[in-house]
Amino acid sequence: MKFFRPSPSLATLLALRVSLSAAFYLPGVAPTDYNEGDPVALNVNRLTPAILPSSQQVQSLISYDYYHEFFHFCSPDGGPKKISESLGSILFGDRILTSPFKLNMAKNDTCKLLCTSRYDVRSSKFTNMRIKQGYNLNWLIDGLPAATLTSQVGDESNQFYSQGFSLGGVGGDQKPFLNNHYDIIVDYHRIPGRNERQNRVVGVVVQPSSRTQKISGGAVKTADCNSEQPQYLREDGDTEVAFTYTVYWIESPTAWATRWDKYLHVFDPRIHWFSLVNSAIIVVFLTGMVSMVLLKTLRKDIARYNQLDLNEDVQEDSGWKLVHGDVFRPPKNPMLLSIFLGSGAQIFFMTGVTILFALLGFLSPSGRGSLATAMIIFYTLLGFVGGYTSARVYKSFGGESWKKNILFTPIFIPGVVFSTFFFLNFFLIWKGSSGAVPLWTMIALICIWFVISLPLSFAGSWFGFRAPPVEAPVRTNQIPRQIPEQAMYLKPIPSMLLVGILPFGAIFVELYFIMSSIWFQRVYYMFGFLFVCYGIMIITCSTVTILMIYFLLCSENYHWHWRAFFISGASAFYVLLNAFIYWLSKLSLGGLASNVLYLGYSVLIGFLFFILTGTIGFFSSWYFVKKIYASIKID
Ligand SMILES: *[C@@H]1O[C@H](CO)[C@@H](O)[C@H](O)[C@H]1NC(C)=O
Repeated sequence: MKFFRPSPSLATLLALRVSLSAAFYLPGVAPTDYNEGDPVALNVNRLTPAILPSSQQVQSLISYDYYHEFFHFCSPDGGPKKISESLGSILFGDRILTSPFKLNMAKNDTCKLLCTSRYDVRSSKFTNMRIKQGYNLNWLIDGLPAATLTSQVGDESNQFYSQGFSLGGVGGDQKPFLNNHYDIIVDYHRIPGRNERQNRVVGVVVQPSSRTQKISGGAVKTADCNSEQPQYLREDGDTEVAFTYTVYWIESPTAWATRWDKYLHVFDPRIHWFSLVNSAIIVVFLTGMVSMVLLKTLRKDIARYNQLDLNEDVQEDSGWKLVHGDVFRPPKNPMLLSIFLGSGAQIFFMTGVTILFALLGFLSPSGRGSLATAMIIFYTLLGFVGGYTSARVYKSFGGESWKKNILFTPIFIPGVVFSTFFFLNFFLIWKGSSGAVPLWTMIALICIWFVISLPLSFAGSWFGFRAPPVEAPVRTNQIPRQIPEQAMYLKPIPSMLLVGILPFGAIFVELYFIMSSIWFQRVYYMFGFLFVCYGIMIITCSTVTILMIYFLLCSENYHWHWRAFFISGASAFYVLLNAFIYWLSKLSLGGLASNVLYLGYSVLIGFLFFILTGTIGFFSSWYFVKKIYASIKID
């Protein structure tokens, strides 16, 4: 099996974990230097559900605020304060607050008592439930998430970090216990040759444990931290719990620039390679097939058509030439199609630009939520492209209601996304989850959209309507032709199912990793692979759609506009199906809210994917149809 594993240098190259080394730092990712004894802040983030080791499944998708009233974690004097975050970080659920932990650079501390809390029956029940569901605590020290040291089954020597550590555990008797003692192990790096401000945080591991603490002392209380007895939360009365922690500072040779590497563990790089080779084969096969059709059959067709033009036989001929008088007839519902295409172009460029930026290392994981923020910014700025595309396509379809087109292009898709988001947010508010997006963030989003995206889209539409329409190379007849009976595989549903599976095949392994990063808080960073896969998906979408449209035209069916959009967009159906299988196999979500959230977001992502792939399929088919009809002589 050894030689199946690609050389690490090549894998690194494709994964492109660009380390931001000494040369330059982007805002927010510059290192912080500490003197010995300087305070190092420990901030707390929300509690998130993790994969249960017993079943390898996730039981909930709801996250909770660290200072949720039922957890009774110790809060700092004067109450916790918010740490400012990026828009994307907030949207993706981060809620970062200050904590009462006191850490000092390179100063070990043993068994410090944080506070004692009293759990009433309701709180105990709630907390025990969260423990059984396998919730994780998420802390940040110097921007680095506190991790658990884990290793893969069968490869114990190769240890890596997984984000978060457990809230509690379940004993042999199925009784949940609460982790109330934390061993905080911080790796620090000493920069040689400097005598001041020379230490940097390069790794954080927390090993939590459960202990019934003995509290002693009068005014200043102390704990002993030696108990072996787990701390249970009684469900029939109040429980007093003491929280303690111990800090170890360990000097480490890891440089600051590579401190994220341990988090970015590739579970099995072979699977990425396998998928890449797999998709590459699909692409080579398809492009080969399409170029064969294009070069051989078409050239023959064109030569024959142009020859036969002189005599009468042409009428008895069959094939795509016969529909030349109908093929450029505008589709039904040109308004909706052009709005879809405008938004599709916007999503297309947004995805491309975001992946490219991520690939170049601009969106490193240390800038929390930078990926989501970048997506929002790019989408907003690309409103211009959306407006332009929609207007130009609509004009080329001979549409008249240009005012409606200008208005609806920036409203329709963002409106659908925003309403779904708003609706799903209600479930989060209802469950008291910290994942609920705060009102002011919603307002900020609406403002960004009104102030930047809307005017840009209007400007784009203005240019789009001013630009000349895309001219059809042949004239359209007055009377539409009759369409003959179609073969089975050319009927709408079969053709969608046939075409849609191929673009999906190009991306489904990456999709799996993206889904684990969305639902399991794993860091996704395989942007090199993702970039290649995105390219392969685009090529696959266009080639299969062109092929199917060619068959369609050959059987004298000229309703290709919507068909091209739908058959290519059908890959979204497979994405949804995949999400559904994932739901059945990887998640066993308790409660309505988690299920509604999962399905809601999956449908939303599927819809956007439909628009994206549909647009790719449409434009490549349009290009193809224009090209072939431009090359034949028609009297
Ligand atoms: C802190 O304690 C650990 C474990 O006992 C030890 O290895 C380390 O050197 C200590 N660090 C400092 C700065 O004393």
